[in-house]
Amino acid sequence: MDDNTARQLADINAAFYARRAADFSASREGPWPGWRRLHGLLDAEGLPAAARVLDVGCGNARLGRFLAEARPALRYSGLDSCGELIAIAQAEGRLGTAPEFLEIDLVGDDLTAALGARRFDLIAGFGLLHHVPGRARRRALLATLLARLAPGGLMALTCWRLVAFARFRDKIVPWEAAQPPVDPGRLEPGDHLLPFGDGGGLRYVHFAHEDETAELLAELPVERVASWRADGQNDELNQYFVVRATRPRP
Ligand SMILES: C[S@@+](CC[C@H](N)C(=O)[O-])C[C@H]1O[C@@H](n2cnc3c(N)ncnc32)[C@H](O)[C@@H]1O
Repeated sequence: MDDNTARQLADINAAFYARRAADFSASREGPWPGWRRLHGLLDAEGLPAAARVLDVGCGNARLGRFLAEARPALRYSGLDSCGELIAIAQAEGRLGTAPEFLEIDLVGDDLTAALGARRFDLIAGFGLLHHVPGRARRRALLATLLARLAPGGLMALTCWRLVAFARFRDKIVPWEAAQPPVDPGRLEPGDHLLPFGDGGGLRYVHFAHEDETAELLAELPVERVASWRADGQNDELNQYFVVRATRPRP
């Protein structure tokens, strides 16, 4: 996907999250049930008490609060392009020891430069990949994040299983509704406009099958630690992937 189209899609989402930050945050107050399994896995894998955690697309940082409940020494870094959500996250607090926030746009900003020399024991991307425009960008993002894992570190992702549910497919809005306009000929299969909740504001979402996430990971130097399905009414909403890097990080 060309840079201009990716920028347009990222701008649609930036406008949505800036405008609806309070409502969106209110709809994401508690942890996802699937995180309980992650919690047990992190214990089993020996995550250090003072683990460095990077939460990419952190929103209101509910993941940080969930993890810090059991691990108060946790060092949390929340990364998001939405200043309004970061402000909510900071006001909520309860994020372990010396939390930091990075206001970064994954489409327009240089993530490698922004992260500097930081390394992490856990990098999470929950509810994120469907907002990253273009398969090549999703792959590049995962590669950049992997390179930031400390030795033995884990990367955990979710794939929102939009394709599996008629209730999401039925809500897709034609691209003609995009403001400013987007040329549908420049999009990739599975790229859609979806209203939030009962219709308040449109977001760009990529309807990825979990096979796409698995394929992206298979192209990278990782080994699968665990994968499970959880969340939503029948534990079918998200596919989780937890991987570790298989090559020594520089
Ligand atoms: C579906 S929300 C998930 C929030 C959080 N991970 C959670 O589980 O509650 C997606 C998040 O990704 C952020 N986001 C979307 N596009 C982004 C971009 N281009 N750069 C950085 N963050 C982005 C949004 O601002 C939003 O906070």
